Amino acid sequence: MAPENYDKELHKSDLDPNPIVQFNSWLQEAADEGIKMPERMNLATSTKDGNPSSRMMLLKGADERGFTFFSNYNSQKAREIEENPHVALNFFWYELQRQVRIIGTIEKISEQESDEYFSTRPFESQLGAVTSSQSKEIRDRKVLENKYRELQKQYKDGKVPRPKEWGGYRVTPSIIEFWQGRTNRLHDRLVYSLQKDQSWNIVRLAP
Ligand SMILES: Cc1cc2nc3c(=O)[nH]c(=O)nc-3n(C[C@H](O)[C@H](O)[C@H](O)COP(=O)(O)O)c2cc1C
Repeated sequence: MAPENYDKELHKSDLDPNPIVQFNSWLQEAADEGIKMPERMNLATSTKDGNPSSRMMLLKGADERGFTFFSNYNSQKAREIEENPHVALNFFWYELQRQVRIIGTIEKISEQESDEYFSTRPFESQLGAVTSSQSKEIRDRKVLENKYRELQKQYKDGKVPRPKEWGGYRVTPSIIEFWQGRTNRLHDRLVYSLQKDQSWNIVRLAP
């Protein structure tokens, strides 16, 4: 069925009271639909003066603690996160005509958790992480390729230690919106917001 004709509905009664459970069920449906990289998401950050920037990232998991991804702690996003922990995430699954918007605060995960995840990555990805001083200016591509080759020799035993500047972040959500595209632009939008008593309140917004 063409996505434009997709007319799934979204009612409050369809939603799990816990937005993380709801999110994981939509992520699973996106995977089951055969959507490539359903875990890709946009991450928006901004400086303390409010200058925004955004980029695509890969979600590594969502659970009661929040939404986790991995990156470089010296990158532009990292510098902005350091100044301003308020961030936004956005997922869009075209084939299902679904969007999820998340607002929250972000912090680094523990060194131990980053070590554990780094050790599960393929050798080439580990080398790539060590090679790249993400978001820094480089003279040309050869700089990267030469460094990668040097590191291949240095770590020929296959044991690459996690660079201190590479690790995980976790976003603790305070608002999560589930958007279901509908015909005639009469989309469904249901928004969870975290209350003082840690319960989630759900309201419907006009599309
Ligand atoms: C689909 C997709 C997934 C990506 N996933 C990641 C990721 O998980 N971690 C990461 O550091 N960069 C990822 N990138 C690269 C980022 O978009 C970005 O170029 C990089 O993190 C530098 O961003 P910054 O200079 O704003 O810090 C991904 C790019 C794409 C297109």
